[in-house]
Amino acid sequence: MTRKNFIGGEWVEGSEAVPDVNPSNLADVVGEYARAGVAQAEQAIAAARDAFPAWAEAGIQKRFDALDFVGSELLARRDELGRLLSREEGKTLREGIAEVVRAGQIFKFFAGEALRIGGERLPSVRPGVEVEILREPIGVVGLITPWNFPIAIPAWKVAPALAFGNTVVLKPAEATPACAWAMAEILSRAGLPAGVFNLVVGKGSVVGDALVRSPHVAGVSFTGSAATGEQILRKLAERRARAQLEMGGKNPLVVLDDADLEVAVRCAIQGAFHSTGQRCTASSRLVVTEGIHDRFVAALASAMTALRVGDALDPATDLGPVIDRAQLEQDLRYVDLGKRCGRLVAGGEPLKRATEGHYLAPALFADTTNDMAINREEIFGPVATVIRARGDDEALGIANDTELGLSAGVCTTSLARASRFKRDLQSGMVMVNLPTAGVDPHVPFGGRKGSSYGPREQGTYAREFYTAVKTAYTAP
Ligand code: UN1
Repeated sequence: MTRKNFIGGEWVEGSEAVPDVNPSNLADVVGEYARAGVAQAEQAIAAARDAFPAWAEAGIQKRFDALDFVGSELLARRDELGRLLSREEGKTLREGIAEVVRAGQIFKFFAGEALRIGGERLPSVRPGVEVEILREPIGVVGLITPWNFPIAIPAWKVAPALAFGNTVVLKPAEATPACAWAMAEILSRAGLPAGVFNLVVGKGSVVGDALVRSPHVAGVSFTGSAATGEQILRKLAERRARAQLEMGGKNPLVVLDDADLEVAVRCAIQGAFHSTGQRCTASSRLVVTEGIHDRFVAALASAMTALRVGDALDPATDLGPVIDRAQLEQDLRYVDLGKRCGRLVAGGEPLKRATEGHYLAPALFADTTNDMAINREEIFGPVATVIRARGDDEALGIANDTELGLSAGVCTTSLARASRFKRDLQSGMVMVNLPTAGVDPHVPFGGRKGSSYGPREQGTYAREFYTAVKTAYTAP
């Protein structure tokens, strides 16, 4: 059975069917998904456009009820959907279930936000005049999501879009349509009028591009690569549509001399290698000061030998496979590069397991410098580097010497040092004695410099993208 696109309240065939393959076991096809083309993308945009005026007026209780329904069902089906997620994406079952829970919590949070859309009332400088600052939905939004968080990222774009009264066309990543489809199926039963939510599975260059170019799409929220983000931004700027872009990271985790070694190693293992390192928040650069450097590298290498790489669904697995062949090849190219410019401390080789899959031993390089390509370009795999720093000042300089600025971390037992790094790290998110990855669902998410563009995602800040501000003056 081919799972279809959801357009205008109907399940619609695509032009062809694309298999969704399990990266832990290439013989296992998770499902077949109908691939949409330009015509279907346009149909979905038209359906969202027709549905918008009524949805914008439908009232906040309806929005709350729909989002609350989706949140409850996601939470109730966490084990089943977590399994589906791990099977199609390759992160471990524990991570898959946690991600479904996160998606459920996000829907619950934004159900509440629908009830809390407020404004402000101020006095005017003209006596007798009232001023109000109001928020309105922006219209049809196009949402383009990546494969690495196949349910949480769709959730954190779809839920605020609907909560604030917009209508949606979602284009999930082609590598992981199953979770987005499962979420769409729940949304199809959530009491939303036809056309309020639409799902089109297809290529970024076709369906994504149609969303970006359409004059009827008021804004696009995209998470993915910096190169694609930049193309999207240019096209959106041309027609003055809203853009919210979450792109790459080259996130530093700074380990200072006085760090608790155990904490620092735990942060590095989780930040660099969990979710197979396939997170834009991954700690890919470990900036370590001299006094702790050798102890840290030895302890990290030893902790890495305990990591079990295997089938995502095996409860004993710590690290699942890489998403697909192209990503594995990219990771291996960077491993080769690392071997030529640094010292390979551990891992880096493809692994054979009982089933054929894209398995890679997590890799650690030491003796690297911050100007090397492995320290400048996002690898998006289980590959981390160590950069030695002479002291706090140099460590901070290295950490900030990057074109990206999503997340950054510091491990230290000194409050004064923690405060300094919290203040001076140039990133959207700063973590003290915590991994750079792994964020809460109810607070703003986003970066600085080349990592992000436009308003923050998540938490109450999400309304900055999904609403338009109106200032109303009244002379009663
Ligand atoms: C997290 O670290 O918990 O694509 C979230 C990504 C990010 C999400 C990271 N947008 O990796």
